[in-house]
Order: sequence, then structure tokens, then C-alpha cells
Amino acid sequence: MGTAELASRPNAGIDEEMYYRRFTLGQRYQHAGLATSFLALAFTGMTLRFSTQDWAVTAARLVGGFAVIQFFHLFFAVILTSIFLIHVGDLIRRMVYLHEKGLLSGPTTMVVRRKDFEDFFANMKYFLWLGPAPKFDRYAYWEKLDYWGEWWGMGVIGLTGYAMWFPEFFARFIPGRWLNVALVFHSWEALLAAGFIFLIHFFNAHLRPLNFPMDLVIFTGRQSEEEFKIRHPVEYERIAASGGLEKLRAEAPPRWMNNCSGLFGLLAILAGFLLMVLAVSSFVRG
Ligand code: HEM
Repeated sequence: MGTAELASRPNAGIDEEMYYRRFTLGQRYQHAGLATSFLALAFTGMTLRFSTQDWAVTAARLVGGFAVIQFFHLFFAVILTSIFLIHVGDLIRRMVYLHEKGLLSGPTTMVVRRKDFEDFFANMKYFLWLGPAPKFDRYAYWEKLDYWGEWWGMGVIGLTGYAMWFPEFFARFIPGRWLNVALVFHSWEALLAAGFIFLIHFFNAHLRPLNFPMDLVIFTGRQSEEEFKIRHPVEYERIAASGGLEKLRAEAPPRWMNNCSGLFGLLAILAGFLLMVLAVSSFVRG
């Protein structure tokens, strides 16, 4: 099956093809928790930010008022922070205790490498019909951008959020007026992060032709052999050459898992677009 055919039949061949594991159960849980808490934070945060708009007043009324929205914002902030800390803890465990090779360098790392720049420029040339499509390794450059964007967002949104939540504590270390600056940074960085996730990340991960209408691999943890070969050919060829494919073999995802993943993904995409429409219309109306 060629690229064009796969594009017209995303997640094709369920139950007919061989499947390979791409993400662990822990990584899948982390992503689901991150996606849920981010969506909830974006919704509650935007409701607070645009609290004079009709839609925000209606949303607040539905759940019992702005105080409840504020409570849920902080509740999901704790969930998101916990997931982030679990992720950091897992990285430390893999680095320090398991001495996992390839975490910080080599073809499977999330650290940006020379090949990512080469792939980026090759992709730009491909978009302009000036060259062939680049062949990606385990992570494409835009997947690394998504990943590091979350570290950046967590740093800026998290720090400013906690500064607003515990102003007396932070005022021991920073001048009081910086707390006002924290609100401005939190608010604008939140909008940037929501725009990035709901427009760029959703497009890259689900809506681009090769993945349309949805790539379920982060939910099911598995990809078909054809998807593996087309999306990550360099990794596929490397593992095949080293005889390691058999170790990655997995069962095809059961139908219920595909259905639940598809439903979750669809709701997340619709919620994200709805929020973007609400945010932009709130700006326009002022
Ligand atoms: C660790 C994570 C976070 C913490 C601790 C946090 C904390 C806070 C706090 C304390 C407020 C002020 C609430 C009030 O008293 O009205 C706030 C507001 C807000 N938050 Fe967060 N937040 C976090 C993550 C996020 C995320 C991920 C987003 C969106 C993507 C977000 C979007 C907003 C927005 C838009 C506001 C309203 C700002 C305004 O009034 O202009 N927050 N947050």
C-alpha cells in the first residue's frame, strides 16, 4: 500500500495487518491525562478571562458560578502539575537507574539533533516541489516541537499560575508588581498554548492528509506495519536490520479501544476548535 492509498485509508487494515508497539501504557496514560487536564484548564481559564462575555456567564451559571470555574481551574492545575512531575520522575528513573541508552542522544532521543534541521529544510523543499519528502526517524521535528513546547508552556504558565495562586509566598522572593506581570504572561501564554495545541498540534497529529481523520497511535500505543514504514521509515529500517521488530510485535488494537480512542480524539478536536472560536469572537467583540 502506497502513501496516497494509506492517506485515503487512515488506520487501514485493522485486524489484517501486523502491529508494532510505539508507546508504553504509562506514556498513553500520561498523554490522556495531559490532554484532559489541558482542555479543562483552557476552558476554565478562558471562561475566567472572558468573564464579561455571554458564553462565559452562561458556562459559569451552568456549573454554579465563577467560583466553581476557579475551583476547577486550580484542581486541574494540580492534576497537570502531577502529570508533569510523574513524567520528569520517569525520565530520571530511565536515565539514572535504568541507564537507558538513546534518551539524550542518538536516533530515538527527544533532544533536537542535526537531522531534525535537515528534515525541516527537506520538508520545506518538498512543500515547494523542489525535492523528495524527508524520511523520519522515531520522532519527526514537529513532534519534538510539540514536546518541548509543553516544557516551555509548563514553565511559563505553571510558574506564573502558582505565583498568582500563592502571591504571599512568591512576594518573599520577587517584587509585588511582578505578580501583575505574572497575570499578563499567564493569560497570553495560555492563549498562545491553546492556539498552538488546538490548531497546529491537532493539524499535525490528526488532520494532515497522512493521518486524516485521526492518528490513534498515542491512544492505542500501536501502529500498523504500513503506518510504521511510511511515518517512521528510518526507525523501521534500523530496527528491521537489527532483528528487533519481533520484540515490538503487538496485537491489533481491539475494536472497543479504537472506538473509544476515536471518540475521545473527536471530542478533544471539537472542544479545541469551539474554544478557539469563542476566544477569537470574544476578542473581536471586545
Ligand atoms: C500549573 C498550571 C496552572 C496554574 C497553577 C494556574 C493558575 C491560575 C490562577 C491562580 C489563575 C487566576 C484565577 C483567578 O483568580 O481568577 C489563572 C487564570 C487563568 N488561567 Fe491558569 N493556571 C494553570 C494553567 C493554565 C493553562 C494550561 C491555561 C490554558 C491553556 C490557563 C489559562 C488561564 C487563563 C486564560 C486565566 C485567566 C487570566 C485572565 O484573567 O486574564 N491556565 N490560572
